[in-house]
Amino acid sequence: MDYNKINSEIENVDINAIPPEDEPQRQYYFIKLLRRWMEQKVKEEGRELTCCVNTFGCQMNARDSEKILGILKSIGYKETNSEEADLVIFNTCTVRENANLKLYGRIGQLKKYKDRNPGMLIMLCGCMMQEKEAVEKIEKSYRHIDVIFGTHNIFKFAELLAMKVLDERLKRKILVDVWEEEGGIVEELPSERKYFFKSGVNIMFGCNNFCSYCIVPYVRGRERSREPEDIIAEIESLVNDGVVEVMLLGQNVNSYGKNLKNTVTFTELLERVEQIEGLKRIRFMTSHPKDLSDSLIEFMGRSKKVCHHIHLPLQSGSSRLLEIMNRHYTKEEYLELIEKIRKAVPDIAITTDIIAGFPGETEEDFNETLDIIEKAGYDNAFTFIYSKRTGTPAASMEDQIPEEIVKERFDRLLNKVKEISAKKAAKYVGKTVYVLAEEKNNQEAGFITGRTEQNYIVHFKGNEELIGKIVPVKLCESKGFYYYGEM
Ligand code: SAH
Ligand code: SF4
Ligand code: F3S
Repeated sequence: MDYNKINSEIENVDINAIPPEDEPQRQYYFIKLLRRWMEQKVKEEGRELTCCVNTFGCQMNARDSEKILGILKSIGYKETNSEEADLVIFNTCTVRENANLKLYGRIGQLKKYKDRNPGMLIMLCGCMMQEKEAVEKIEKSYRHIDVIFGTHNIFKFAELLAMKVLDERLKRKILVDVWEEEGGIVEELPSERKYFFKSGVNIMFGCNNFCSYCIVPYVRGRERSREPEDIIAEIESLVNDGVVEVMLLGQNVNSYGKNLKNTVTFTELLERVEQIEGLKRIRFMTSHPKDLSDSLIEFMGRSKKVCHHIHLPLQSGSSRLLEIMNRHYTKEEYLELIEKIRKAVPDIAITTDIIAGFPGETEEDFNETLDIIEKAGYDNAFTFIYSKRTGTPAASMEDQIPEEIVKERFDRLLNKVKEISAKKAAKYVGKTVYVLAEEKNNQEAGFITGRTEQNYIVHFKGNEELIGKIVPVKLCESKGFYYYGEM
């Protein structure tokens, strides 16, 4: 991000002349104001101010945090891992209840840091802040929090921070700005990325599927796709900046483009992304089985850049439960899809998400899930204990499964997944594959950690200069979802 460019672009701006809907110009104005405030602060304190962004949840949240960090850095904050920073942000997730409980513990602990550093600011954002009850609880019991905002107005981050630090009337109040409904998509705000060589790219926001257990559509709003031109332009500029791998992000990428004025399919988007020179790898997440098209499968088979990995959440192997979950596919249809994918892309890795203990799940339903895991031959599966989310249809269903039974099923599920993925992983041993070297291994000196196209982690001997490059590595020893290899 070229901060000097931002600076010169906003040099002559009068905020009163910019209407609220004229984003991102308004936000650049607030960034500029905050830069001046920061210069002053640094003089007063005799040191640089630090910020710490804590992220929970999925890739969407991770990407949102990078956008927040981009704004923070353009203001002049220095990033730190310590929660004893001048500005601490929690970007929250609420997909399962235990995430919420953990958050209360974490923000409670910050009180002692704030007592030591009264100038410290604490901001909460993300999916959990879209829930009224959560915000009410924080306003009542966690008065040391400064700002709360939601998933729909992240672009307003600089404005909210400016209000908090510059408006005397807000000094002792919790500033809450959570939108119930989604706004437009704001393009071209600054953004950071964790790795110089790879990046997530939002292609759409929100979700229309309302799976009966899931809170995401309530906290992320309806499905909205970005214009393909904006996506392509973003990826091109990332590639110019050294990125070789992108991960296209959406709750259901297979329905990308349906709500655009000029509709575009996900496969058409991929075809355009494939043309971008210098880009080497394309990943995407998440694919909903109900919308996975033949054209996508066919394209994955012939593309030179789309990685041979698909994350295809199953949730349950019981057609009866899948219907109650509102998933719109049966066990048989799911297995047919898997077969089609494997036929078109023989070396593909398939991963999935599975929930144990959905209301009404019988022993037979659960056994069908175990059965499909065997048949699908997953490379890996993320397993979850069903969590009751207030406001979702499943939360008010009868037959919520007692905790002991769910725990016992969850253990069996985990064992099954371990067994299947170990078998699968062993098959790659001895093969030479291309690995994107990502970081130095902190546990073992002289080792680099990277990822195969199939998204397996590989540790191999090498120096740091390899980071960001794709190199051939022979897989020598399998340890489940990671390998030891040799270049
Ligand atoms: N949009 C993605 C998933 C987003 S949430 C998709 O449809 O695949 C990630 C995973 O969390 C889901 O796939 C599901 O397995 C799990 N999950 C969602 N709600 C849950 C709940 N109430 N209890 C347990 N797991 C849940
Ligand atoms: Fe949740 Fe279903 Fe949407 Fe995924 S597709 S985010 S599981 S409602
Ligand atoms: Fe969590 Fe929100 Fe993602 S609820 S899983 S961070 S969309």
